Formats: sequence, C-alpha cells, structure tokens
Amino acid sequence: MPTQLGRPLITGKRVLVTAASRGLGFGAAETFLEAGARVVINSSNPERLAEAGKQLSKKGEVHPVAADLTREKDLDRLVAETTRILGGIDSLVYVTGSPPAGTFLQKGYSEWREAAELMTVSPAYIARLVALDMIEGKVKGNMVFLGSITMREPVLNLATSGVCRIAVSGLVRTLARELGPRGIRVNGILPGYIDTDRTKGIVKERASKESITLEKALADLEGQIPIGRLGTAREVAQVALFLASDLASYVSGALVPVDGAYLRSTG
Ligand SMILES: NC(=O)c1ccc[n+]([C@@H]2O[C@H](COP(=O)([O-])OP(=O)(O)OC[C@H]3O[C@@H](n4cnc5c(N)ncnc54)[C@H](OP(=O)(O)O)[C@@H]3O)[C@@H](O)[C@H]2O)c1
Repeated sequence: MPTQLGRPLITGKRVLVTAASRGLGFGAAETFLEAGARVVINSSNPERLAEAGKQLSKKGEVHPVAADLTREKDLDRLVAETTRILGGIDSLVYVTGSPPAGTFLQKGYSEWREAAELMTVSPAYIARLVALDMIEGKVKGNMVFLGSITMREPVLNLATSGVCRIAVSGLVRTLARELGPRGIRVNGILPGYIDTDRTKGIVKERASKESITLEKALADLEGQIPIGRLGTAREVAQVALFLASDLASYVSGALVPVDGAYLRSTG
C-alpha cells in the first residue's frame, strides 16, 4: 500500500491542506493523517469545516482554520495560524474551490476576475507566504498544487478553468526553479474526473440538459476514460502523499495527471 510506504517519511510532518471540508481536499487530509502527519485543514465555511474536523479527528491530529482562499487577509491569517499551531509548515497541499461551469461566451468581466482570483492569484499568493515561512524557518519543505486536466486540455463548458488553471502549471515550474536552490520542491497534480460532489453536479447538469438519465450521463463520461471509471479522492491523495514525501526527493516541477488516461495529448 502506498500509504504504508509513505508512513515513515510523513510521520510528524506539518501539513496544511486547503479547501478540505469535502472532496479532494478532504481526501488529501484523511490520507496524510493516516500516514501520521499533523494537519491543518481549511475551507471557507466554518460549520462544514468543523464537521470535517470532527470526522478527521478520528484519524489523527487535525486543526480546522476557516479562511476564504480568495481573500488576501484570510490567506495571511491562514498561513500565520498554521505556523502558530504546527510550529511551521513542511508541506502545503493546495486545493481550491470549484469554479462555476459555463462556456467562454457566457463569462463576463466579473466572472473572469473571480476565476483569476480563485485559480491564479490565490495559489500564487499562498505559495509566496508559505515559501517565506519555510525559508525563515530553514525548512526544506515542499508544495503540491492540485489543479485539473484543464491545465493541459480545455474541457467544454469549463471555460474559466481552461483559461485560468494553466497559470498553475506556470506557478509550479516557476517556483520549482526559484525555490530548488533553497531545498524546497514544488509539484502539481492534474486530476481527471474524480468522484466528488463537484463531479456529481457536472453529471447531473448534463443529464438534465440532454434529458437523459443520470446513469446514462455517468456511463457516457466513464466511456471517455480508458480505465473505465471515475477516480477516487484517495487515489489523487496517494499521489500527493508520494510527492510530499522523501520518496519523491528528486521530483520537482513535475505536473502529474491522475486521470485514468483521460488526457490524449503527449505534451
Ligand atoms: N472532482 C473532480 O473531478 C475535479 C477534477 C479536476 C479538478 N478539480 C478541482 O479540484 C478542486 C476541488 O474539487 P472537488 O471536487 O473536491 O470540489 P468540491 O467537492 O466542490 O469541494 C470544494 C472544496 O473547496 C472549498 N472551498 C470552496 N470555495 C472556497 C474558498 N473560497 N476558500 C476556501 N475553501 C473553499 C469547499 O469548502 P467550503 O464550501 O466549506 O468553503 C470544499 O471543501 C476544485 O478546484 C475543482 O475544480 C476537481
């Protein structure tokens, strides 16, 4: 099991997982806790986050810190609080909220600004805060940014993601080069279709738009994935765990698809 393999390398590590009240972030927090990490979880809704914290506390040491990832002051506070609670940060596992679906022509100025804040400004700004914190504490840490397959191929009806997520690839490569000499590794994950509330919503929307059953909409989607099914949050988290562990000590600047071979491009 990858979790057992990662265990001695992650035990006691101080990890911040953002957007973790459900979905991919929750799965990442759960997997890191099972591997023995000390974890701060975050999301914007204090009640949902507290509930997630309660569930996750069965797995290990977890501290919820509510903060909106699209607000500068919240990001400042989130990183400061995490450092205060854990005594520093060894790994950032960055997940963000889901951008609303829609085509390019449906998106106006405010939608583009919100999308850029959610998918470009937020990860870049928190990366700087965490990097400064690691440098000050002389921590040879790492960051893992969960983005999307849209970082490589646009997906119809996810226009803002297709435009703004590409920035995460640039962020990972830029930071990996700049922070490598300081012993800090930076990597990215490109999740495909993973079984979370977000994906259930996409399937439901398509079923209602095309007047087909949910089962048919799901089967059509799974038919486009060579492995033949949706992924699980845990399957994404296990790759994050590997990238955050010393097993990946020579891996930095990598962008790893976890998509059941959905992507067609070779680049
Ligand atoms: N699921 C997939 O198949 C898939 C594939 C590729 C990429 N992604 C991307 O991966 C990310 C997570 O996806 P998911 O499926 O786990 O989504 P999800 O089930 O919709 O969960 C989103 C999480 O983000 C939190 N969140 C939303 N807005 C936030 C904000 N402003 N500040 C802090 N936390 C916020 C939510 O918590 P609160 O409501 O409590 O704030 C929740 O914990 C999204 O960016 C999504 O686009 C997902």
